[in-house]
Parts: sequence; structure tokens; C-alpha cells
Amino acid sequence: MEKLTIEGGGALKGEINVSGMKNSALPIIFATILLKGDSVIKNIPLVSDVLNSLEILREMGAKITVLDSHSVLINTDNISSEIKAHALISKMRASSYLMGTMLARFGHAELPMPGGCNFGVRPIEQHLKGFSLLGAVCNEENDFVLISTKNPLKSTKITLDKISVGATINIVLASLFIEGVTVIENVAVEPHVDDLIHFLNSAGAKIIRYGRRIFCEGVKQLHGVEYEIYPDMIEALTYLTYVGATGGEIVLKNTNTAHLSYVLDIFSKMGADVGITEREVKFRAYRALDGANVTTAPYPLFPTDLHPQFASLLCFSKNGGIIKEGIFPTRFAYVGELQKMGACMKQGNGYIEVLPSKLHSATVNATDLRAGAALICAALATHGVSTINNVNYIVRGYEDLTNKISSLGGKIKLLKGEQ
Ligand code: EPZ
Repeated sequence: MEKLTIEGGGALKGEINVSGMKNSALPIIFATILLKGDSVIKNIPLVSDVLNSLEILREMGAKITVLDSHSVLINTDNISSEIKAHALISKMRASSYLMGTMLARFGHAELPMPGGCNFGVRPIEQHLKGFSLLGAVCNEENDFVLISTKNPLKSTKITLDKISVGATINIVLASLFIEGVTVIENVAVEPHVDDLIHFLNSAGAKIIRYGRRIFCEGVKQLHGVEYEIYPDMIEALTYLTYVGATGGEIVLKNTNTAHLSYVLDIFSKMGADVGITEREVKFRAYRALDGANVTTAPYPLFPTDLHPQFASLLCFSKNGGIIKEGIFPTRFAYVGELQKMGACMKQGNGYIEVLPSKLHSATVNATDLRAGAALICAALATHGVSTINNVNYIVRGYEDLTNKISSLGGKIKLLKGEQ
């Protein structure tokens, strides 16, 4: 199993190019199932979830050609209506997008329950509610999801019971060819939802989002496109927690600062020097930052995917803080691992209180993608050599991790196998 060793305690300084957004690339890759002809997707992050998604399509018969380090040509004209690659599907939450795309294209979808980061149950009843209201029959049997429709799906109005990125995306995908206008209310508005809408409209779809309402007018067909994916907001913010914890300065290039504004304001209030242009962030933190209290919530508020990394940062702040988890109430597996490094944290019902802590190096285990990113934050800011196991979780969502951190002066090594 691969592991990382990090010799921490030094300030980070330098600049990094933000990669394409994993949580946009995944729905966009699956959405090519609905496009006729070649599509070229650019600024795609070569992280394992993306590679697995491409492999799932390839095993269904798609033509996938890697054009360069961040561009892929995809043609799904001849894919099978039968979903294969079940092992890969059950590892990834994003494979749930096969439900909406296969239903729209073939009128049916049979696949294993999608997996994903293991922080508690990941229900899909909102996805199935949407498909049912469109006229499909949905069943769950022996850990499989079976969705089908004998007649053409019918446009209607769907009001989601809770804000869900996945359900929003899946119902949009299912409604693309339905005659009339399908209205979806109480939708997620994360940048990756808009990225997908922008991609689909450039392929000929007719989708409009007003606030938390989406109108999708059905079309007969969608054509292949050349499309560049938005920059990854969570990767960008993760690197800012690294510099906030270690001290130092960083320039984030090729980002979209409009997506980062809520958290950048918090960093400024904590005492960091933050300067932005449309595509760049200049961030300096040459003294310990003040603490902060945050609550995670759907975009545009504080992202749940930054919760673990922010908790690490608070360990090195002057007065700590409280993080209330408003999306995944069981997303706390990282706490035990940070406590192995000496973090002073008190966990309550759906929140964590972090006190300023003197951490020591240790051997710790990544329990999911963002928990792993949090352990890197703590190790970079702690004197001594720490080891982080289960790197496979981390490379799901962070491209070129060791090179990017090394370019900032971080002393990080990837050890393969049982070294
Ligand atoms: C997406 O997951 C992201 N994954 C997650 O990022 C992210 O944490 C999450 O959105 C929230 O922003 C991908 O995009 C691949 P949700 P998703 O449906 O779509 C509940 C990462 O680190 N819910 O918005 O699964 C759900 O349990 C990953 O990159 C239902 O109850 O999240 C959660 O409490 C981790 N029923 C809340 O809604 C449903 O049918 C939000 O989930 C669907 C969701």
C-alpha cells in the first residue's frame, strides 16, 4: 500500500497551477454518454476517480483517447446499453451519474449501488424520486439499482426534499431528451453543477438555472464538443489551509476566485493577507492565524469538502474554533488520526471543537479523500517526519500532489509498496 512521508515544520512558499475540478470532470465524462460524435474534454485532472470513470466507459465500448496530460477524446456512439465494470462502479459515488445518463439514452439502467468516501450512509432516494416523477420505475435489489421506463419519460416539476449535488446532476441528465420543460426546484448550485450545465448547453442542450431552480427543455440530440473544465475550488482552498498552517505564501494560478470568495473572506478575517485577480490568489500568512467558527453548508457557503483540512489548520491557529458539519454529520473519521499527532479536539453531535495544539509527528491513516488532505496539512506544519498510510484515498482527488507540495518547499515523499 502506498504511503507518504512528510518532514514538516518549514514554511511553504511558491506558486501552483490549480488543476481541473474532479467533481466537474466526473459528471461531464459520464454525460458524454448522451452526446453523439467525438468530444474533447480539456483541463481534466488525471486523478484516480477520473481514470476509473474513463475505464468504466471504455469497458462499455466507448472510444477513449488521451490526447495530452490534461485532454481526453471521448466517443460513446457505440457503447453497450449494459453497464459493466461493476467493481469500479461500487467504489465511486460519481458512477451514480450512470443512472441518469443510461435512463435518458437507453430507457434503463442496472448498476451496483454507487460507492464513495466512507463517511456514513450515502442515500440516493432524491435521485430515485426525480426519476420516478419523470415516469421511470426504480427498484433497489441486492445492492443493485434497477431503473427502467416502458414509455417515454414525461416532463414535470420536481422539488427536491434536500439540496443534493448528485441528485441535481442526475435529474438534469435524465431530463435532457424529454419533450417539454422539466423544472427542478431546490437544486444544488455548486460550481460543478454550473460547469456541467455549461458543458451540456455547448453540446446543444437547453438548460437554464435561476437560483435554486433549473429549467430543462428537452432536445432531440446532443452533439460532441470541445470543452474546458472549471478549476478545482477544493484543491485551491486545500493548498491555502496548508500555507495557513505552516506559514509562508503561495500564488494559486488558473483558479476561479469567484468560487472561493466565501472562504477567502474567512481567511482574511483570520489574519491572512489575501489578494485576488479573476484567475489568481496571492495568499500570505507569516504569523499564526486567528481561529474561526464555521458551519458547513451547500454552496456558496463553507464547503463540507474543506472541513477536515480546516480542522487541521485550526490546530495551528492562535485560538482554535468550532466546525459544525451541516452536510455529512459523520464526517469525523479524521479526528482520531489528528489526535494521534496530539491534536486537542472535542467532538460533539455534528461538530468538532479544535483547541490550539502542539502536534508531534506520527504514523497516521487516511480514512477518506479529504481526511487524507487534512493529515497532509498537519504533517507539513509539524516538526519531524510523519507517515500517512492509504494514499490511494488522497490521489482520488489531488493531482500531482507530491510535485506540487515539493515545488512549495514541502519535504514529501511517496513510498510505494512495503518500503
Ligand atoms: C458530492 O457528493 C461530492 N462528490 C462530494 O465530494 C461533496 O462532499 C458533496 O457533493 C457535497 O458538496 C462528487 O461530486 C463526486 P450530495 P454527493 O448529494 O452528490 C444527502 C469529495 O470529497 N442526500 O450533495 O453524494 C447526503 O447524504 C466528495 O470530493 C440524501 O439524503 O453529495 C448528504 O447529507 C466527498 N439523499 C447531503 O444530502 C440523496 O438522495 C448532500 O449530499 C442524496 C443526498
